[in-house]
Amino acid sequence: MRLRSVIPFVTAFAPLVGAASIVERKHAARDATSTSAVTGYVKTSGQNFVLDGETFTVVGANSYWVGLTGLTTSEMDQTFSDIAAVGATAVRTWGFNDVTTPSGDYYQLWTNGTATVNYGPTGLENFDNVVAAAKAYGIRLIVTLTNNWDNYGGMDVYVSELTGTDYHDYFYSDPVVIAAYKTYVNAFVSRYIDEPGILAWELANEPRCAGSTGVTSGNCTAPLITSWIAEMSAYIHSIDSNHLVGIGDEGFFDDPSSTDYPYQGGEGINFTANLAVPTIDFGTAHLYPLSWGETEDPIEWGVEWIENHATAQKAQNKPVLLEEFGITSNKTETYEAWYSAIVSSGLTGDLIWQAGSYLASGPTPNDGYTVYPNDTVYGLEAYAAGQLKARNAA
Ligand SMILES: *[C@@H]1O[C@H](CO)[C@@H](O)[C@H](O)[C@H]1NC(C)=O
Ligand SMILES: *[C@@H]1O[C@H](CO)[C@@H](O)[C@H](O)[C@H]1NC(C)=O
Ligand SMILES: *[C@@H]1O[C@H](CO)[C@@H](O)[C@H](O)[C@H]1NC(C)=O
Ligand SMILES: *[C@@H]1O[C@H](CO)[C@@H](O)[C@H](O)[C@H]1NC(C)=O
Ligand SMILES: *[C@@H]1O[C@H](CO)[C@@H](O)[C@H](O)[C@H]1NC(C)=O
Repeated sequence: MRLRSVIPFVTAFAPLVGAASIVERKHAARDATSTSAVTGYVKTSGQNFVLDGETFTVVGANSYWVGLTGLTTSEMDQTFSDIAAVGATAVRTWGFNDVTTPSGDYYQLWTNGTATVNYGPTGLENFDNVVAAAKAYGIRLIVTLTNNWDNYGGMDVYVSELTGTDYHDYFYSDPVVIAAYKTYVNAFVSRYIDEPGILAWELANEPRCAGSTGVTSGNCTAPLITSWIAEMSAYIHSIDSNHLVGIGDEGFFDDPSSTDYPYQGGEGINFTANLAVPTIDFGTAHLYPLSWGETEDPIEWGVEWIENHATAQKAQNKPVLLEEFGITSNKTETYEAWYSAIVSSGLTGDLIWQAGSYLASGPTPNDGYTVYPNDTVYGLEAYAAGQLKARNAA
């Protein structure tokens, strides 16, 4: 599955900041229109997202934390203002926090195997504020509804509360767990059916057979997760016919003959098969070469990863987003190359991991990937967003 690029990669991003102002000026009128009001629902047409009959460029950042760290509404405003200033149209964020003891902002409380959705000011009312702040800055949200990892609860809480085991993959196979997740999804999604500020729902952040503990039943397969994806995405569409549904996965291919970890299918994800599920509206991929052991030439490895997902996008004729990507060193050189590959490969859109702001309560979380507004990469984000919009308008 790993293909070498035929056309040599040539950077298109020099000079960076000087060129950005030209691109931004060229698209100022359209940006002003798109940021003035968030109305209507984004749909797909072939490999594009569309809104009111025109191509809608999905570009922006991740901010998992905006609804989970006790921010005031003015801090939420600052967050989205900082993200929108680089020309972003979309932000991906967490629509989950499963707790067993109430603490901070959370959306679902578990007591002895019983889940209670938090509709109050630290729960869905808080998420209402996130949506309102995003819309005020022309941003639509991609909302992920659970986590493969044990941050903010996630799949393992359902499994341990309901099955008494720690087999992570029971999340995809145990009927009681599946029903409980549907109940949560129904509560969350139903609240926002008529909300244009939602761009898409996502089934899970980085679903895999194994979670944070690595413990599985030994019975997990890629077809199992594909059928779970089919069932859950059809379920969301049955509740909410306005919004798109994606997966939120890392975009791993499933080719056992590959010697390259993200291509060989070891995590139970088959990107190609999952993209073909009729109730999945767009594909998702992440890109972390250093975490995946791709240390020899992480820049070029990432360029190929982008190109291979663009190839799958074209084959399936559905949009694909590089919806998380990050590197902790050599950021400018790396992101120039990756952004350039996104534009030239035809990949539909991208969201960097992750946005950062300096707020009244202090800096937002920094995991080494965070881009604050005074970072050089922030200017690059603006330039790259302009390039993607220009490509899509051409
Ligand atoms: C949960 O179960 C424990 C042990 O059986 C019990 O002591 C506790 O009261 C229960 N809590 C609730 C809220 O039912
Ligand atoms: C794995 O699948 C087999 C065959 O269906 C079943 O007998 C076994 O109980 C499963 N293992 C676990 C831990 O669920
Ligand atoms: C992954 O899915 C594709 C498309 O359905 C299929 O051709 C391929 O064989 C699958 N991989 C494996 C290992 O089954
Ligand atoms: C940083 O990127 C440049 C440009 O591709 C490359 O030549 C250089 O080796 C990279 N440096 C490190 C430390 O990875
Ligand atoms: C960005 O601003 C913060 C807060 O004012 C400051 O601590 C940091 O050193 C600045 N970084 C750069 C690269 O200027």
